[in-house]
Amino acid sequence: MKLTIIANWKCNPSTLKEAKKLFSLIKERAKNSSKEIIICPPFIYLLPLISCKNKPKNLKLGAQNCFFKEGPFTGEISPLMLRNLGVDYVILGHSERRKLAEKDEMINEKVKAALKSKLKVILCIGETDEERKLGKTFEILKFQLEKDLFEISENQLKNILLAYEPVWAIGTKNPCQVEDLKKVVIFLKSINKKFKILYGGSVNKENFSQYLKVKDISGLLVGGASLNHNEFLAMIS
Ligand code: PGA
Repeated sequence: MKLTIIANWKCNPSTLKEAKKLFSLIKERAKNSSKEIIICPPFIYLLPLISCKNKPKNLKLGAQNCFFKEGPFTGEISPLMLRNLGVDYVILGHSERRKLAEKDEMINEKVKAALKSKLKVILCIGETDEERKLGKTFEILKFQLEKDLFEISENQLKNILLAYEPVWAIGTKNPCQVEDLKKVVIFLKSINKKFKILYGGSVNKENFSQYLKVKDISGLLVGGASLNHNEFLAMIS
C-alpha cells in the first residue's frame, strides 16, 4: 500500500516566494520518495505551484476548502474551478472550518460537489476534548460519517481519504496515543472496511513513524510541522 503524506499549510506562508521555496525543496525530495505527497497551500498559491516544472507524479496539490456551487457566491471557489486548474484533492470538514460554523449538511454538499467535479476528497472528522472526556468519540465519528457521507456510494469511497483528526490534538503538541488511534481505526473499519484512514494532529518528525506502523493507517495529515522543511522532508523520505 502506498502511504500518503498531506501537508496542510493552513493560512501560511505570507509570501509566494516562501511558498515556492518550500515547495521546491519538497519537490526535490519527492522524486526519491515512494509515498504520495499532497501539498495543500492557500488558494492563491495553487496556480503558481501547479505550474512549477518537473514535478514528480507522486507530488499532488490539494485545496483547503471549496464551495459546492458556481454563480452568485462572493468570495467562494468551486470544485470545478480547482479541477480545471489541475488540482487533485480538496480538504473538507476540517475542524478549523467546522469552528467557523460549517455544518455537516454543508460538508456533505461539498463532498458530493467535489467528487462530481473529479476532485478527490480528504474528509476530516474528529471529536473535541469535551466529547472525548464524555466518552463520546465513537458516537461523534459515526454521526459525522453518516452526515458527511450521506448519499455517497461505496464506489465513490475510493476517491475519499478519511483523516481522523481529534480536535484536541490539532496544534496542541498533544498527539493521539498510538493505542487510542488503533481503537479508532478498528472502529472506523468496522463501519466500512473500504475506508482509507489517515491520522492528523500534532504529527512531527519524532512521532510520525509510529503512526505509519498502525495497521490500516494509509497516511498522515500534517499541519504545523509541514511548514518546516526539516520536519516535513524527514516524513516524506
Ligand atoms: P497540526 O495540524 O499538525 O498542526 O496539529 C493538523 C491539521 O490541522 O490538519
